[in-house]
Amino acid sequence: MKNTYLALLLAATPLVLSGYSVSSMAHSEEQCGVELVTENIYKISQVEHKSDTKALIKAALGSQYDAPVAKVSESQLNAGSSIYTQTCAVCHGATGQGDGASSKFFPIRPADFTNVKESGFYSERAQLEIIKKGILGTQMPGWETALSEEDLLAVYGYVRSLRQK
Ligand code: HEC
Repeated sequence: MKNTYLALLLAATPLVLSGYSVSSMAHSEEQCGVELVTENIYKISQVEHKSDTKALIKAALGSQYDAPVAKVSESQLNAGSSIYTQTCAVCHGATGQGDGASSKFFPIRPADFTNVKESGFYSERAQLEIIKKGILGTQMPGWETALSEEDLLAVYGYVRSLRQK
């Protein structure tokens, strides 16, 4: 993990969260830290944004959209679990139910990773893509500059493991 990026991002997180009121949105300089490490590419539009996001990711991934993401080992799961706790839980909740401390500020609650229906909206490959690129216009940042490919897979593997059958 590149800790400087993470520290930057996490330090800036409250700014993003408070960024929902128009006046504090103006503090773009302070949000620069986030801009630098996030590369959100998927545009959204209000209510239908998840369907729109899905369509965009489908278009970007083509036939890879439905390709399964490889199983992860026990040690990757453990690594993924600590990455999750350090970097994702603040929004996604300690147990992945979308109820992290920050999530009450969001217009749309993050998906409940334990709920098969909610967490199955996107394909596995698409969820990994979201973790890498983020979703533009939401609080979900892209992590591909902050986390290595290995860490991205590990944290995705952990998120997937939270699904209750
Ligand atoms: C600053 C808050 C925040 C952080 C930190 C964050 N997320 Fe998110 N994430 C969100 C929000 C909000 C959404 C839902 C966006 C939407 O669709 O409106 C989301 C969506 C997602 C999705 C898609 C969920 C679905 O609908 O299936 C995945 C997967 C995901 N995040 C994984 C992660 C992982 C893994 C991390 C840590 C490396 C992480 N997120 C860190 C806020 C965050």
